[in-house]
Amino acid sequence: MVEFILNDRLEQCEEPTGTTLLDYIRYHKSLVGTKIGCREGDCGACMVLVGELRNGRMHYESMTSCLTPVGNVLGKHVVTIEGLNVKGLTPVQQAIVDEGGTQCGFCTVGFAVSLHGYCLSKKPATYENAIAAIDGNICRCTGYKSLERAAARIAKLLVERDEDQPISWLVEQGFLPEYFKGITRWVEHIHEVRMHEQFLPMEDTILVGGGTDLYVQRPEEMTKDFVEHIVQIYGENTITRKDNTIYMGRTTTAEDLQSSPEMQALFPNLRAHIKLVSSTPIRNMGTIAGNFVNASPIGDLTAFFLALDSSILLKKDDKERTIKLKDFYRGYKQIDKARGEVIETIFFEVPPPGSHFNFEKVCKRKYLDIATVNTGISIQVKEGQILGAHVSIGGTGPIPTYLHKTSAFLAGKPISVETMEAANEILQSEITPISDVRGSAAYKRLLARQLFYAHFHTLFPELF
Ligand SMILES: Cc1cc2nc3c(=O)[nH]c(=O)nc-3n(C[C@H](O)[C@H](O)[C@H](O)COP(=O)(O)OP(=O)(O)OC[C@H]3O[C@@H](n4cnc5c(N)ncnc54)[C@H](O)[C@@H]3O)c2cc1C
Ligand code: FES
Ligand code: FES
Repeated sequence: MVEFILNDRLEQCEEPTGTTLLDYIRYHKSLVGTKIGCREGDCGACMVLVGELRNGRMHYESMTSCLTPVGNVLGKHVVTIEGLNVKGLTPVQQAIVDEGGTQCGFCTVGFAVSLHGYCLSKKPATYENAIAAIDGNICRCTGYKSLERAAARIAKLLVERDEDQPISWLVEQGFLPEYFKGITRWVEHIHEVRMHEQFLPMEDTILVGGGTDLYVQRPEEMTKDFVEHIVQIYGENTITRKDNTIYMGRTTTAEDLQSSPEMQALFPNLRAHIKLVSSTPIRNMGTIAGNFVNASPIGDLTAFFLALDSSILLKKDDKERTIKLKDFYRGYKQIDKARGEVIETIFFEVPPPGSHFNFEKVCKRKYLDIATVNTGISIQVKEGQILGAHVSIGGTGPIPTYLHKTSAFLAGKPISVETMEAANEILQSEITPISDVRGSAAYKRLLARQLFYAHFHTLFPELF
């Protein structure tokens, strides 16, 4: 049984734990405000908020319920549009109406839920943050300008928001219904009573992280087979620094990465880099470990962490082993992982002084698209000499690739345009792109060169 709070009621769900939240709330609870659009995480019509206890306080994130298994919300608070109802319209709904942000209305619920999620977050009240909150929602009718104006209005209203007590403030201002004030105590109670319960793994278990790959690729299997949920308890997603190593847990998501003070301190452009990965709700759900195990040749987080020469700790029963991420990939979708082995920890050494990091990605559109080619670089430079480098690339071969020869070539060379051009010759010998729907082999070679050069233009503009 999965116990959680759905709006203002306690739920004890007896359905298979792999059932999608979307099906549960529409077909079992008749909460039909949540719409079914693509069922692939793309359109945002099925958006809900999921709140969990973090350090004694509720922390809410928007998620696409079509890809979220019920088992992932054990002990959490799930909010649908019905759970946001107050007397009259909330200021968010009013802003959408006033700015003409709704026409046929199919997408409107999803936009309203995402924007309420933004109000509940601690993200500063800026136009950019309000717009980012709806980057996982699609509207076929309005042309978006009216929705952007609505988002801008909401950001202005939130300037007064009490950062320490956002829920009390939002209730008092009519953004949220009264029952939100009592949710923390209720969730704490479920934790005291139930969170020690685990779904017992069985033979042939399917491990699910955020579900953002599995529920797109194998949706039918997920409800029939036994599913083991590894995204359950807060605390396993934290990012910590011990001495010179950064550690991430098995449930760390792309959003955890983006909002981590430790990571932001090390990588000044982190937000811009991670913004290139999927959308806000998918980043709230999708884990780094899931990205590695999916083994897509264009996994963005994989390319990112390959360029940091990261390692992973794998565990099954009492046995543990550590391998480099660059040794994890054996062939197309083939990885060095036994059945039942779980990635417990991902870690990398803090880049030494004088290091610079960059990530580049080209897709058919700038955001919310998978890469045609992506690449990362970590490069250490002292007094004009390259002391060491790690370069990764995706989309130009059957696996996400650590460029061994290119990385080794760069070490010991002067930092110059000539070095960059010579390194590209080696890079071109290390990749084997094929023509497919995302572009011809020749185009991908060209992209590989341009993105490799882009690393140098971004990190060392003085060379040009
Ligand atoms: C709309 C949309 C947009 C997307 N955009 C991007 C994008 O721009 N870039 C990108 O790279 N990806 C993108 N993705 C893909 C996906 O979001 C990522 O790959 C994500 O990181 C997968 O993580 P997950 O936790 O959801 O994986 P899941 O679907 O839960 O699992 C994927 C695989 O990993 C295994 N697994 C999960 N966790 C562990 C673990 N700890 N140990 C062992 N095995 C594990 C599962 O068994 C499964 O085989 C997108 C997906 C969607 C739906
Ligand atoms: S139905 Fe489209 S994102 Fe869920
Ligand atoms: S109002 Fe029709 S899809 Fe957005």
